[in-house]
Amino acid sequence: MPQMPIERTPDSTVALRRNPYGFIAARCREHGSDLFEARILLQKTVCMTGAEAARLFADHDRFERGGASPELLRKTLFGVGGVQGLDGAAHRLRKQAFMGLMGHEQIAALRGLVEDAWRRSARAWALHDEIVFYDEMLEVLTRAACAWAGVPLFEDEVAQRTRELADMFEGAGAVGLRHWRTRIERDQAERWIQDLVEGVGRGLVQPPRHSALSVFAGCRDSDGKLIDARVAAVEVLNILRPTVAVAVYIAFVAHALHEYPECGERIRAGEEGYTAMFVQEVRRFYPFFPAIVARVRRDFEWRGYHFPRGRRVILDLYGTNHDPRTWVEPDEFRPDRFRSWDRSPFNFVPQGIGDHSANHRCPGEWITIELMKLAAEILAGRMHYELPAQDLTIDCQRLPALPRSRVRMRSVQFEA
Ligand code: HEM
Repeated sequence: MPQMPIERTPDSTVALRRNPYGFIAARCREHGSDLFEARILLQKTVCMTGAEAARLFADHDRFERGGASPELLRKTLFGVGGVQGLDGAAHRLRKQAFMGLMGHEQIAALRGLVEDAWRRSARAWALHDEIVFYDEMLEVLTRAACAWAGVPLFEDEVAQRTRELADMFEGAGAVGLRHWRTRIERDQAERWIQDLVEGVGRGLVQPPRHSALSVFAGCRDSDGKLIDARVAAVEVLNILRPTVAVAVYIAFVAHALHEYPECGERIRAGEEGYTAMFVQEVRRFYPFFPAIVARVRRDFEWRGYHFPRGRRVILDLYGTNHDPRTWVEPDEFRPDRFRSWDRSPFNFVPQGIGDHSANHRCPGEWITIELMKLAAEILAGRMHYELPAQDLTIDCQRLPALPRSRVRMRSVQFEA
């Protein structure tokens, strides 16, 4: 049996933190392999990249999620007891609740709420010399996401709730003090939503019937019992937090329109299907969610390599989206490449792999695409602005990556 390539350094955590988007693919190239073994957070871990590795990773018989992601992420980004850590029938049942929120009409309603909140905020931006567009979008999306999810949001709490929701994904990879601050923000946010869930139970809060708050307050496990109010809060936050995180992609939409002005012209011209391809290319090209984590469920072999039960496995999403075996000149920004993409759920994986219902693939993918299309249309056509001199380079050491200036804008005007 061949020996899996092994990193020679005793622990690769620091190297991964320094280069979270490029580490796995770079080391795979060095080893001449799609996978290698390293120690990460002191644990033996198999790191894998590419479409074939993604196909393997989607196999439930071989991998499970329960307890796989590091506590650092569970206590900040995901929360404890949520869908991300479930497997088998329990996962499928909980996932159905998420999928039930993703109908065309529901997504159109969210798009309308974002557009309204954006337009209203833009009136205020017009009065300022300069705005930090990414920060403003966090607030726009917080307002819209709460309204959509049936979560009441009073004007005097908008800033605090925006900070809590944004901190959960901005501080997720942090260590030290920042990590503890993020845990406190999550705790506050969970208590906020848990109170509302309990209020729904007592009939004191009445969210719209198909909203996330209503769905998760009434969500039952396979034993027929209502899920714990704290877990319901984690799931409502699994809607609010990532919807706010779409601000990262919207900042990249603005970045791409600046770097590749010909794209804006084609969006303005209303070229058939072009905005959709542009958005896909933003999701492929720019760094966001670097990798996903699972554990080996039972011993097996793949390509002759042994995967022992319990071994942690990381699949490289960013590297798979930039794999030259799938993507010609992957580091070029070319929306037209999506004309001939084969639609494989394993080679273009910015929001996870495989099937949305059966795997852990992101149920918010359609929302993300729709809000990015809206942003592309507004930024290319309906909103006029200037970008003053600023540092727009992408900081790929922070998670998630962002343009260093967070996209500063001047002279903002929104067409009526
Ligand atoms: C902002 C852009 C987004 C990115 C980059 C993103 C990325 C991802 C990724 C990589 C996964 C993990 C897949 C896995 O572990 O296999 C995931 C899962 C998930 N996402 Fe997203 N997502 C985004 C937006 C959203 C939105 C808008 C929502 C909901 C409104 C959402 C809700 C979820 C949930 C609930 C899961 C867990 C699914 C499961 O475990 O079955 N995400 N997302």
